[in-house]
Formats: sequence, structure tokens, C-alpha cells
Amino acid sequence: MTIQTIKTTPYGDQKPGTSGLRKRVTVYSQPNYVENYIQAIFDSLEGFEGQTLVIGGDGRFYNDVAIQKAIRIAAANGFGKVLVGQGGILSTPAASHVIRHYKAFGGLVLSASHNPGGPEGDFGIKYNIGNGGPAPEKNTDAVFERTKVIDSYKTVDAADIDLGAIGMQTVGDMVVEVIDPVTDYAALMQTLFDFDAIKALFAGGFSMTFDAMSAVTGPYAHAILEGILGAPKGTVKNGEPSPTFNDGHPDPNLVYCKDMYELLMTEAGPDFGAASDGDGDRNLIIGKGRFVTPSDSLALLAANAHLAPGYKKGIAGIARSMPTSAAADRVAEKLGIEMHETPTGWKFFGNLLDAGRVTICGEESAGTGSDHVREKDGLWAVLLWLNILAVRKQSVDQIVREHWATYGRNYYTRHDYEEVDAAIAGKLVEDLRAQLPALPGQNFGEDLQVAYADDFTYHDPVDGSTSAKQGIRIGFTDGSRIVLRLSGTGTVGATLRLYLERYEAAGGSHDLETQSALQPLIELADQLAGIKQRTGRTEPSVIT
Ligand code: G1P
Ligand code: ZN
Repeated sequence: MTIQTIKTTPYGDQKPGTSGLRKRVTVYSQPNYVENYIQAIFDSLEGFEGQTLVIGGDGRFYNDVAIQKAIRIAAANGFGKVLVGQGGILSTPAASHVIRHYKAFGGLVLSASHNPGGPEGDFGIKYNIGNGGPAPEKNTDAVFERTKVIDSYKTVDAADIDLGAIGMQTVGDMVVEVIDPVTDYAALMQTLFDFDAIKALFAGGFSMTFDAMSAVTGPYAHAILEGILGAPKGTVKNGEPSPTFNDGHPDPNLVYCKDMYELLMTEAGPDFGAASDGDGDRNLIIGKGRFVTPSDSLALLAANAHLAPGYKKGIAGIARSMPTSAAADRVAEKLGIEMHETPTGWKFFGNLLDAGRVTICGEESAGTGSDHVREKDGLWAVLLWLNILAVRKQSVDQIVREHWATYGRNYYTRHDYEEVDAAIAGKLVEDLRAQLPALPGQNFGEDLQVAYADDFTYHDPVDGSTSAKQGIRIGFTDGSRIVLRLSGTGTVGATLRLYLERYEAAGGSHDLETQSALQPLIELADQLAGIKQRTGRTEPSVIT
């Protein structure tokens, strides 16, 4: 095999964000852009000679091109084997499982998650370490440093591999094995959940609709829900992965799944609705007449996890990202287990999961998962919900209401201002940060007294690392919170995320409309940060 060393020049913008390097396809298709980044990842790793690398993606436009490049660079750099999903497909949680299951050195997850795809859409590359989870900040920082000075990459002169053919092929001295993307993942799910109980639920007439959003979960949902669990054909909608997500926006929220939401709000609609995103790690859960916020879903899953065989011994602890509502904290308190508040992004859960300190993790951005993999997992959340519904024999609405009656309700919403001028957004955050020291003790309106105001710093209890400037938190004495941060996954301008939360104790009013319940906080956030005035926007781009 001839290894070629190709000269290149650095790009200045290859800084990994919340979840790998996400850029427009037009950016990724520049000469050597992919090559530089992948070589920089390998340059910042040690000890992978002869080891296995997993490669998989969400099937979006450019996936196949990037995979062929990645395989050749991996061969030239000395990996012994690449495991790749058939058709280049592996959902993000399935990739995490495959890395763990086959004890791979690490993996490349090619995805821009819920961002739109296509030639004008987004693409992304994320490196996951041997525990199956996203590389921690110390690795991603090292990769960024390397991208700034990279002057060559290694590749081999070899033909493309046939991504359609299950089995072994070779590229140079390296073996490439194309595997079925679903089999291992489905087997893992079978160890966690009571599939017989869920089968009986469907056999008893329970109706469900699952929107795969023309993204990666289609094959998984067809095989597991309609295949193994016997849900009627047609339960899975948009189940064929498309490189452009059929020109859709594969983000399972109330904006992009509006039709499903409206269907679930009618008497004639199904009992249960769910959806997953571009790469299969996010989930949307809607019961008949009841949307479950991701923060509530985390709390509910944690409180009921013991009903599924995989968690019957109980959970060790819960972790949530800082902007996620404190609903799960109340569950942890009641169960007497550890509770952790981490910065945004799944990579911060890895250490806690590895150390066995938490079992279930979640983010307000429709991400929930457990220690079965090291990524959030959309279908896992759907299956755990189905398992709970099968055991409790109640509707989603009843289960949610009982939860609030026990723990109280955390009203919660997120307002996103997308594609804001980056300089304006940066200044807004800076000016708000400057106000923080003076806020504690101040009263706003009749009920709101500031208890604390800071820019969140996380101290990882496992490895002792510190992550500063992770978002502004203004907490009030009644448990309400205003959180503001800039997105780390956007690809154009800045996205300002404003998170609002209000706690209503058990016995309080749990039937208010969410936006009205949070109106005083929404107004106060604008008063303090000047969002409307500075951005010129009269309303958020997306409300979830
Ligand atoms: C967003 C979400 C975050 C999630 C990430 C990757 O990041 O807010 O919770 O982990 O996508 O799916 P952000 O754009 O806010 O940095
Ligand atoms: Zn995703």
C-alpha cells in the first residue's frame, strides 16, 4: 500500500462546537476541508495503531463523500479496521453502542443532528472516544489547536468501498467491515425493556404514530416498532432516510412536528406520538391531549425507570444540563440519589456515566438517555415511555398529572432568536454578565426576588476539570429561573437561547397555559437583556 502525504494549508474556522464541527456543506466541500479536520483529529490521538474505528452517519447529503475520505485517511494513519454502517448509516446512539460493543478505539459520527441537510444545508463531523461518547473538551481543544497549524494529511490511493455490501473489504492494509446498522442496537434495546409487555400493549389496540422525519431512525423504528413489537404497519411515518430529509427540518419539536401535535390533540388521534431527529438522538413525546416537555420527560422517565427490566434495581443518579428545568431534581431528592447540573452538551455526562454516579441524563433540547450508551438516544426514550405505559396501564396525560401532583410542576419554555448578528449577540451577553453582581436581593414585580445570578461554571466531580462561561443563570427565591446563552451548534450568525422556568408546587395551579404562566419572566428577561431592542426582533424565531 502506498501512503500518500498530501500538502495542505490550515483553515481558521475548524473549532468544534457543542457537538463536533458543524458547517454548511459548501464550507465542508472546500478543498481538503474534511481531510484537514480528520487528520487533525487523528493527530491529537495516541495509540490507535491497529485498532478499530467506527464510522457512521445520519445519511445526509455529503455523508457518503466524507465517509470514503475518512476511510482512506484512517487506513493511511494506521487503523487496523473500520466498522461502517451499511449505506453509511448509523444513528448517533447506535454508533455509540457499536463503539462500546466492539471495543473500538473511537468513532467518527457524521451528522449535523437536527439541522437541515442538502447541498445548501449543514454537515458535521464529531469524534467519539472509546467509551462511545463525544470527546471531552480537552480533546476537542487539542483538535482545534492542531487544525490551526496542519500542513499535511495522509491518505491512500484506493478505490471507494462498496457501502452497500455487508461484509469485509480492504483498503490498503486496513479491513473495512460493513455492518447492518440496526441489528446490534435492536438487541441492546431488547435487554433493557419488557418487549413482551409492549407487544401486548400494541396487541390490545394501543395506537401510536412515530415520525422518523425522513432521517436516520426510519430503519430502526421500522425494525423495532413494527417488526419486533408488532405495531401496525404505517405506525412509522417518513421512515425512509433521505439525504435532504425530504427538504424538511429534522428537528422534532412543536414547530416541525406541528401536524402530529395537532393530531394528538384531537379525540380521534392516536394514544401516543413520538419523533426523532436527523441522527436519532433526540425525541419528542406527545400523549393524547398532552405534550410532555423534554424536561418533564426526563423527570418522569427517572421516576418510573424501575418499571423497565434494565433499570429494575433503581437508578444511581440523574444529570441534567444547566438550562434544563429542575423537575428532575425533585425526583432525585425523593429517591435520595445524586443529582448533577452540567453545561449544555452530552459530552459533559460521559464522566458521570462512566463513574457509575448517574444512570439517566437529559437536556431540555429533547435529549434523554442512560448509561446503556454514551449519547442521548431518541428511540430509547420512546421505548422506555412505551414500557412505562404498558406497565402502568394509564394514559400519558394521567401519568404526567400524577407526577405534578406528587412533585409540583416546572412550567418551562425556550425562546430561540436565530441568525442574530454575532457581534450584537456577544455584546448583549457581555452587558448582561456585567449586571449580574448587582442582581441578588433585588425585587422585580410582586413575587420575583433574585436569589443568585452568575455565569455558570462547571466543576467536573470526576476528573476535576473546570468549564467556565457556560451560560447566564438568574435564579429567584421561588424556584423560577431565567437562563440565557449562545448556541454552540448554529452555523450562521449567533443563536440566542432564552430559557424560562417557574415552579408551581404540588397542590398549586398546574393547568395554566405555559407562555402565560411564564409571561412575567419573559418580560423581565427582556427588560434585563434588552433582547428585542438590541436584535430588532419582535418575537423569537422558535418557541419550544
Ligand atoms: C443544542 C442543544 C444542546 C444539545 C446540542 C446537540 O446545543 O441546546 O442541548 O446538546 O444542541 O444536540 P446549542 O445549539 O444550544 O449549543
Ligand atoms: Zn441529534
